[in-house]
Amino acid sequence: FDPSIPPAKLSRRDLRAVAELIKSGACKNVVFMVGAGISTAAGIPDFRSPETGLYSNLARLELPRPEAVFDISYFREDPRAFYALAQELWPGKFKPTMTHVFMRMFADRGLLLRCFTQNIDTLELAAGIPRDKIVFAHGSFAGQHCIDCMEEFDRKTLEEHVRSGTPAFCACGGLVKPDITFFGEALPPEFHGSLHLLEEADLAIVMGSSLSVYPFAALPQRIEEGVPRLLMNMEKVGEIGSRRDDVAWIGECDDGVRELAEQLGWWEEMEGIWKGL
Ligand code: APR
Repeated sequence: FDPSIPPAKLSRRDLRAVAELIKSGACKNVVFMVGAGISTAAGIPDFRSPETGLYSNLARLELPRPEAVFDISYFREDPRAFYALAQELWPGKFKPTMTHVFMRMFADRGLLLRCFTQNIDTLELAAGIPRDKIVFAHGSFAGQHCIDCMEEFDRKTLEEHVRSGTPAFCACGGLVKPDITFFGEALPPEFHGSLHLLEEADLAIVMGSSLSVYPFAALPQRIEEGVPRLLMNMEKVGEIGSRRDDVAWIGECDDGVRELAEQLGWWEEMEGIWKGL
């Protein structure tokens, strides 16, 4: 990476440098850090994009503030808002994007150290990334429990409640919620249990996140100095661009992924995988 170029000026040209680095075989432990922006192309709105983001489209739920829909104390007060949103976001209705397939390509080649995701849509699993290579930092829809006695709840029964938009209750009387991490709840143990792996990363790729929610937002800073960090996002976020080896590719992640995948010679294979999903 040309140190003389001020970080903010890094351009598409630098994707070539990242492709060369990957092709050289120097990257054996690639870490991805992703957010809702990688699933917008799948039809799932992100949270904070003006107009299209979820937080500007929840007005009909009469929330005190948009994030309340994922707030555990508000959920206890009125679970209907979350159940209405769960109906829209329930897994199985959406297909992974080429960005999800791109991450799977690293897993298939034994190059994926971890995919840290903030997303709850489980499209990383649907794309074929092995579960043990994914850290669901904010939980996911994969499981459901009572928020009082923590008892696991029957999946089918919850799906019926989500379909009808009526909150599900545990036999103990507690509310049932999918294993998504709400504001006010601790992150899943797998998040803190995986942080030490970041020291082994030899390339970090951050895509589709505003990096506005901690502690996830601090992950890119945990990458060792000297390890290249590639941002693929519609806007510059966090402090990526502040280091000599940072590359900021500003645009739609599927476009950046296509450009990088073509330079790696992976694009045709990716199209074949995507068609088979
Ligand atoms: N390509 C690239 N970037 C995109 C695309 C796209 N197609 N679509 C949106 N983006 C960018 C937006 O510009 C924004 O910077 O992705 C980012 C999405 O940011 P958020 O909507 O804040 O989503 P995220 O960062 O995942 O939110 C983090 O907030 O509400 C909580 O728990 C929730 O996990 C979520 C967390």
